[in-house]
Amino acid sequence: MDQELPPDNVAASGERRFATDIRAGLSHAQKSIPCHYFYDEPGSLLFEQITQLDEYYPSRTETGILQACVSEIAAGVREGTVLVEFGSGSSVKTDLILAACPEIRVYIPIDVSTTMLDSAKRRLETKFLTLAVEPLVGDFTSQTALPRHLSQRPRLGFFPGSTIGNFGHEPAVALLAGFRALLGPRSRLIVGADLRKSPEILVAAYNDAAGVTAAFNLNLLGRINRELGGTFDLSAFRHDATYDVAAGRIDMWLVSMRDQSATAAGQTFQFANGERIHTEISQKYSIEELRRLASRAGWKPDKVWTDQQGLFSVHELHSPA
Ligand SMILES: C[S@@+](CC[C@H](N)C(=O)[O-])C[C@H]1O[C@@H](n2cnc3c(N)ncnc32)[C@H](O)[C@@H]1O
Repeated sequence: MDQELPPDNVAASGERRFATDIRAGLSHAQKSIPCHYFYDEPGSLLFEQITQLDEYYPSRTETGILQACVSEIAAGVREGTVLVEFGSGSSVKTDLILAACPEIRVYIPIDVSTTMLDSAKRRLETKFLTLAVEPLVGDFTSQTALPRHLSQRPRLGFFPGSTIGNFGHEPAVALLAGFRALLGPRSRLIVGADLRKSPEILVAAYNDAAGVTAAFNLNLLGRINRELGGTFDLSAFRHDATYDVAAGRIDMWLVSMRDQSATAAGQTFQFANGERIHTEISQKYSIEELRRLASRAGWKPDKVWTDQQGLFSVHELHSPA
C-alpha cells in the first residue's frame, strides 16, 4: 500500500501509475481517463466550488439528510469507535457525525488528495480536541488493512458524496465487498447515493452555467501537461455531460474540437474532430438497486433516509458478525 512507502517513493510510484493509466486509457478505441485523477490540488479546489453551485443539489441535499438523521446514526456508535471515511475530500460532512458522536476517538480519512487530507487533519484536530486523525493517502479500492493498533476497536464506515456513483453495478459490488472486508464483522457503513430524477435537473448539475464543472473536467488535461510532460491544448477540447435515461447514468466527456495530436507520458495520441474522451460515470442508483448491490456485497441493508423531494438517499448497512 502507498502509505507504507517513504514519501519520495510514494510520489514516484504514483507518477508511474498515472503515466501507465494515461497511456492505457488513451490507447483504447474509446479513449478514457480514470476519474480519481480529477483530484490533484486544483481539481480538489474546483470540486469544492462545484459543491457550492446552485445547480449542484447533491452536496446540500445530502448534508440536509445527514443533519436530520445523525442522531439515529449516533445511537449505534460505541465508545472508542474508529470512523473510516472513503474519499473524504474536505471532510465537511464528517463534522456532523463527529459532533453527534463523542464516542468516536479516531478518524481515518482515505483519499488520493494529500492536500485535502492535510487540511482536514489540521481543521478537525483543532475542532475536536479528543480526536486523533490518522489519514491514509491512496486509492480506497486497494486498501486491504487499517492500522494494526486499531484492530480491536468498533468501526463505522462513511462513504458520502455519491462517490459510489463513479462505479457501475458490478464494480460497486466489488467496492462494497472490499469496504466490508476492511471494516470487518459487526461494522456499519453509511453510504450517500444520488437518486434517479428528471434529466433536466441532472444535466444542469453536471453542466453548470458558470463553467466550473467544465474547468474541473479540463483540469485533467492540465494535470497531464503539468505532471506527465503533456502537450494538450486545453482550448481545443470542450466539456460535455450526457444523461443516459435507460441506464440512469451521467457520463462526462472531453470532446476534441478539431483533428489534433497531443503527447503525454512519452506517447503521441491522435484525436479526430468530435472524438470524445470518457472521464467519469455518475451512476444514479434507486434505493432498491443500492440495497441489492449492498446485499450482494455481504452487507445487511438497514435504514434509508431521503430528502422530501426524493433527490438523494443515505443508507445504513450492517456487516453481520
Ligand atoms: C465526489 S468527491 C466527495 C468528497 C466528499 N466525500 C463529499 O462528500 O463532499 C470524491 C472524493 O473522493 C476522492 N476519491 C475519488 N476516487 C478515489 C479513490 N479511488 N481512492 C481514494 N480517494 C478517491 C476524491 O479525491 C474526492 O475527494
